[in-house]
Amino acid sequence: MRQTIFKRLFLTYGITLIIGFGILALLLLQLFNQYFIETKKQLLMDQGKKIRQEIVLGLYTGQLDQKKLFDDLQILDKFLNARIWLVDSQGVIFGVSGPHEEKYLGKKIDGKQLLPLFQGKSIFEKGTFGGKLEEPSLTVGYPIFWKNLFKGGILIHASLPEVQKTFADIYRLTVWAILLSGLIAYGILYIQIRKISQPLKEISEAAKIIADGEFQKRLSIETGDEIEELGKSFNHMAESLEKIEENRRNLVANISHDLRTPMTSIRGFIEGIVDGTIPQEEHQHYLNVVLEESKRLIKMTNDLLELSNIQQGQVEVRKQAFELHETIRRKLISFEKLITEKNLGVTLILYADQVRVFADPLFVERILSNLLDNAVKFTPEKGNIVIRTSDDHERVRVEIENSGVNISDAEVKKIWERFHKGDSSRGKYKTGFGLGLAIVKEMVGRMEERIWAESGQGKLKVIFTVQKA
Ligand SMILES: Nc1ncnc2c1ncn2[C@@H]1O[C@H](COP(=O)(O)OP(=O)(O)OP(=O)(O)O)[C@@H](O)[C@H]1O
Ligand SMILES: [Mg+2]
Repeated sequence: MRQTIFKRLFLTYGITLIIGFGILALLLLQLFNQYFIETKKQLLMDQGKKIRQEIVLGLYTGQLDQKKLFDDLQILDKFLNARIWLVDSQGVIFGVSGPHEEKYLGKKIDGKQLLPLFQGKSIFEKGTFGGKLEEPSLTVGYPIFWKNLFKGGILIHASLPEVQKTFADIYRLTVWAILLSGLIAYGILYIQIRKISQPLKEISEAAKIIADGEFQKRLSIETGDEIEELGKSFNHMAESLEKIEENRRNLVANISHDLRTPMTSIRGFIEGIVDGTIPQEEHQHYLNVVLEESKRLIKMTNDLLELSNIQQGQVEVRKQAFELHETIRRKLISFEKLITEKNLGVTLILYADQVRVFADPLFVERILSNLLDNAVKFTPEKGNIVIRTSDDHERVRVEIENSGVNISDAEVKKIWERFHKGDSSRGKYKTGFGLGLAIVKEMVGRMEERIWAESGQGKLKVIFTVQKA
């Protein structure tokens, strides 16, 4: 049989409750019992003292009528629900408290039993009084002295079951109260345990649903405790999974789309050449197109691989001190051909002749390459590019700004996404796949630096930071 939390908790707490209440009931009953017996004993002793007084008066001083004495004993018997015996100095019973006791008259009580009386002490005993009584009783005894002579004693017996019967109602009430509170406690326990186990069951079911690929599943647990927290974390996890899944789908769709277009054109041109649709004199031109397309395809696969390697942490960041301004100058020169081709105006403003930074030089070069590539690519002919560095306390800020851009604020946020290409990224120089900035962002992040973009007034400015050495 499968153990559920519900069953386990219910059993554990249930048993604890039963044991707890059971012990409580036993203790209470024991306490009550002791208390009642004690009260009865006290009553018997008080009355015993009074009777002793009467006996002395009645039997020895003659101040009290003997008949009156025995009548009084009979009344007391009823009032106390106890039997009263009078014994002489030999231990022989010579007076009793009613006709039902007459069978004891003249009987002698064992000397051992009466020893305390002979010594002038009182008796208090629980039991059958040395086998003399048929049922367990409480016995109280007092010695009687007259003129310093031991004259005998008085014994009062109250049947224990009778005493207990008097208080049976209180016992019953106690047991009922304990049972009832136990039952209520059990009810509350049931509700509380359900409150814990029910949401856990929901979470487990939701986990199964998500494992089956239904990432939209969400939980709504409102218990206001750790389980609600767990539910929230679960939902958070489901959201992330949904996002990852969506990303994966988009990635596959993007890659297939971006692969198909150039492959189709490569195939088309080669077919044209093979079947002769493309005339001989144009072969060179189309082969060059095919070459360009295959170069692009290789660049895309390399970029994708690089991106995935960085994201998976397979590329190590090797920070070291190096000269940043020199790197920028060198990088810029490598774009000279394109810059002159497009007639671009380039302004380079470096805040110092030299500045040493602490970063991964390969990463920084790659970042500069991608940013300059974009700037050159997306600036229309005769447009302007400004490269500026500035001192930002412990860091150097590098800005690359270019003109001729019309990007909305909403789009600026998206340019960092993988495969994101703006509407304007078509045309002769604009042949990318939208991976450049994704790689840049990843690299900047790995170096624990910041990068952001600002757009407006037909310009786009990309800014990143590098730690000074
Ligand atoms: N300097 C810029 N000026 C104008 N638009 C830009 C600039 N840099 C990026 N963008 C926009 O952001 C998009 C994403 O840039 P990203 O560098 O990631 O891709 P790409 O340059 O199109 O392709 P790839 O870099 O993979 O060759 C670009 O397609 C373009 O729309
Ligand atoms: Mg780019």
